[in-house]
Amino acid sequence: MNKPRYLLKETDFSLPEIAQLFALAADFKLNRAGGTPGLLARQTWGLLFFKNSTRTRVSFEVGIHELGGHALYMDTHNMQLSRGESIEDTARVLSRYVHGMVIRAFEHRWVEEFSNAGCIPVINALTDSFHPCQSYTDAFSIAERLDPKVPSPALLKGRKLAYLGDCASNMAQSWILLGAHLGMEVVLAGPKSYAPDDGIQKVIESTGLVPTHRFTEDAGDAARNADVVYTDVWVSMGDEAEAEERLNAMAPYTVDMRLMKHAAPEAVFMHCLPAHPGQEVSQEVLDSPQSIVFDQAENRLHVQKAVLAILGLSHSEKDI
Ligand code: CP
Ligand code: NVA
Repeated sequence: MNKPRYLLKETDFSLPEIAQLFALAADFKLNRAGGTPGLLARQTWGLLFFKNSTRTRVSFEVGIHELGGHALYMDTHNMQLSRGESIEDTARVLSRYVHGMVIRAFEHRWVEEFSNAGCIPVINALTDSFHPCQSYTDAFSIAERLDPKVPSPALLKGRKLAYLGDCASNMAQSWILLGAHLGMEVVLAGPKSYAPDDGIQKVIESTGLVPTHRFTEDAGDAARNADVVYTDVWVSMGDEAEAEERLNAMAPYTVDMRLMKHAAPEAVFMHCLPAHPGQEVSQEVLDSPQSIVFDQAENRLHVQKAVLAILGLSHSEKDI
């Protein structure tokens, strides 16, 4: 049996694979009406979500359908997992039924443990540590803006991304890791108490990459001449008990028009969504011509179809 492929964090795809991913995604986007049925024909992919989702769940269900496969959403509350069955046994059982899994979890080790115990491809649909489907889509969206015909990841090398707000969040960590992988400068600005964790430094070192990020408490410093200004919610799923403390601490880091003026003239504003206007971003910036947040949201579909195609083809029916 072939060893399946996984997408658990940003370095799981090599640079040539990310280039292949972007080319496929661009093709899927251009030829959506023409369709690409059959790539996942007779395959069933499971969706196991321990947290809420709008974009990720819907774009995966639609994407799997468009590739000719069947998406099976699993309600975690009704599964034996919620009555104490282990993630390992769940992985061993589900591997006998489905061709791949898309998992949204709290602790990152859950997707790792599922991958290790099972024998099917696993896609991380967000954990407390990383959100690679989002960051790959973000990078594609930046590349697409630079060259819509050939949105190559090479276009991103040397570009500056400013990340504002919770610099220890899953999206911040994803951008720290992907920035190092793609050779981008990532400058994160937020309160000191929400600076990047040491753990992400260790992940970068373990992959042999050179860190390309730095942290500052000065939002203007981060945004200065940035090509991309990025933010995410201040209260991530699972952090609700700290909401008040977080909103107070991060109040100076709202992305507003004044901050956007520090960025390069052609800079884009990005947000993985859902947005909370008036907190991490002003309504004016969200609605401005610089904002590409809904292109980002749309591109989740095209990029994830490309991820599914790459992982699904690497794990064919004979492997199940
Ligand atoms: N950006 C994102 O992952 O959105 P959802 O939580 O709606 O899936
Ligand atoms: N950091 C956010 C991302 C949501 C897509 C969260 O984890 O809730």
